[in-house]
Amino acid sequence: LYPIPEFDLKTFNECIPERKAIFDHQNKEIAAALDLLSEYWETCQQTKTDENRALAFARAAAAIKCLPFKATNSQQLKGIKGLGNGHALRVATQILESGYCPEVEEKRNDKKFLSLQIFCKVYGVGPSIAEKWYAQGLRTVEDVKKLDQQDIANNDMIAHGVAFYDDLNRPLLRAEAENTYKYITDLAKLILPSVVTSMNGGFLRGKSSGHDLDVLFSYPEREDGDYGLIAAVLDELNKKGLVVWSRATHTDGPRKVIEINSSPLSSGSTKEHLPTMMIIFKYPLDDRFDEFERRDFSGERNLGPFQLANSNRQWRAVRVDLVGSTNAQYPYAQIGWTGSKQYNRSLRQYAKDSLNYSLSSMGLHDNGQNRWIAAQTEQDVFHHLKLTYREPWERNF
Ligand code: CTP
Ligand code: MN
Ligand code: MN
Ligand code: MN
Repeated sequence: LYPIPEFDLKTFNECIPERKAIFDHQNKEIAAALDLLSEYWETCQQTKTDENRALAFARAAAAIKCLPFKATNSQQLKGIKGLGNGHALRVATQILESGYCPEVEEKRNDKKFLSLQIFCKVYGVGPSIAEKWYAQGLRTVEDVKKLDQQDIANNDMIAHGVAFYDDLNRPLLRAEAENTYKYITDLAKLILPSVVTSMNGGFLRGKSSGHDLDVLFSYPEREDGDYGLIAAVLDELNKKGLVVWSRATHTDGPRKVIEINSSPLSSGSTKEHLPTMMIIFKYPLDDRFDEFERRDFSGERNLGPFQLANSNRQWRAVRVDLVGSTNAQYPYAQIGWTGSKQYNRSLRQYAKDSLNYSLSSMGLHDNGQNRWIAAQTEQDVFHHLKLTYREPWERNF
């Protein structure tokens, strides 16, 4: 039944983060169907049950993305951990046998889902605001743009999301991301020559385009607190007039570095609190920062988001996340900010269930021994987790 001799279901089921998923896996139609159902329940969630459905379909899709052979017969899909023997397996079987799943097509074309999907593409909007807008009678992005500004003006993130809807939903190409990455990290190196940086997120996993650029910084713990370096970088960008909008995430958790043998977090706490600057950035239309950064943007400073978006501008708005980590947090931060989200979920679940460890972007905590586990590299982290190292492009769950 299994055409690939080396495929062993027992091994495949033993440990989920031992699986590999590359972008160009062999069962795209099935994965796309399951991803759509996950997105449907995520977007239309009304209850905890719907949220759990979204998670279950995401897990099922991830299992399919990890299969090392092209499924040709539904018998091959039986007993796969994550896919299960219920709803997701039925969907996969229909796709396999007829190339068509009525439920998926019905949901894909569901009018309400289509509207909520558009709303959720507004930066800053999630399922609950989307639902609110739908209940108010909005259906399209044009409806949202016509909203009495009252409704969005009190949330400057959403106001910018609406004003720059088209810019922010145009895929960011790898070349554009790399260009921006170099520009921002060169600035950071002027501020702190010893800074270590990496371009994380989807691009590190091998995607050719994405929705944003994720830049991770690593530096020694500083007197001026968590935001020190990334706040200084943001300052520089602001001085040059290159920032449309920015917001610092709040670190309501413990602020100090994780040192071995110290326990700055209460045992079991896995809250994510790496300091993050979410930015909407001005990217030059001609891809050239050298001349662009010398331009005078003072005339744009006092414009509201809609005026700015509709002005005669030489740039496109792109989303950038700047994430700060201390040297001790860096290997954990790299894993956390590489993703995929579903890969991280599986890692954390496994760490908790199999080792009684709490894994986050800040570190790894052994809950049994009540101590933090230090790592120098991502390889160290995999070793601590008793897992085979996986390259970022193998983490596309
Ligand atoms: N992430 C995180 N904490 C956040 C936001 C994101 O740990 N507050 C992680 C996500 O889980 C993901 C990675 O950082 O693994 C990058 O997130 P994101 O930019 O949203 O997604 P990408 O995988 O980069 O995909 P895209 O191309 O859409 O940007
Ligand atoms: Mn990203
Ligand atoms: Mn994303
Ligand atoms: Mn991001």
